Amino acid sequence: MREGKVVLDITMSLDGFIAGPNDGPENPLGDGGERLHEWVYDLAAFRQPHGLAGGETNNDSEILDEAFNRSGAIICGKRMFDAADGWGDDPPFHKPVFVLTHEDREELVKKGGTTFTFVTDGIESALEQARSVAGSKDVAIAGGANTVQQFIKAGLLDEMQIHVAPMMLGGGVRLFDRLTSQQIDLKKTGVIDSPQVTHLRFRFGN
Ligand SMILES: NC(=O)c1ccc[n+]([C@@H]2O[C@H](COP(=O)([O-])OP(=O)(O)OC[C@H]3O[C@@H](n4cnc5c(N)ncnc54)[C@H](OP(=O)(O)O)[C@@H]3O)[C@@H](O)[C@H]2O)c1
Repeated sequence: MREGKVVLDITMSLDGFIAGPNDGPENPLGDGGERLHEWVYDLAAFRQPHGLAGGETNNDSEILDEAFNRSGAIICGKRMFDAADGWGDDPPFHKPVFVLTHEDREELVKKGGTTFTFVTDGIESALEQARSVAGSKDVAIAGGANTVQQFIKAGLLDEMQIHVAPMMLGGGVRLFDRLTSQQIDLKKTGVIDSPQVTHLRFRFGN
């Protein structure tokens, strides 16, 4: 049986931010951060999980579709959950989501297969729980930056795909912050260009 990987798939500005300044539940991607995802809004692969018909099918759509379909479970941080909480009763995940938090909460069961399980005992526990439901599929680390950095520091990420949006935010939530002087080896496994975004693929390790 295929062994699932631990993968990161995230959109970042050219100057390294995944949200602009002043992000929070009322301003989910921070000031100007909505522009990060301009490359996805019209894609069929974005519209379909959001319950919307139609949309473009092109290289970007295929890449988004593949990233969505290969994961059987998602891990995210509480700040990303708070930002996504506004997505209502039928969130676009359609699979189990494990939320890292210090807050003890009951599991939330939403429509369309999305469940939110709150994990208070750290990233290894979240990963074990996510793996147990993902089967042979991957576990996707959805963000935010704090969560991603913990997985990188612990050496638990296998692969990452960074969608680099051709814009600068100048401030906000920096993806690769606080990694200190730890050396992290990466192998570049692909670069796919498209008019609105550049997709960079890496494998962790030598
Ligand atoms: N551009 C993109 O594609 C993208 C993707 C995802 C997210 N984002 C953005 O990123 C921002 C959020 O990122 P962030 O780095 O600020 O936060 P985050 O990683 O989403 O969440 C951090 C919070 O999660 C909880 N947490 C994390 N690790 C934990 C652990 N080991 N044990 C217990 N609790 C833990 C803590 O919250 P508590 O102590 O409060 O429980 C912590 O403050 C949002 O603006 C979001 O919209 C952007």
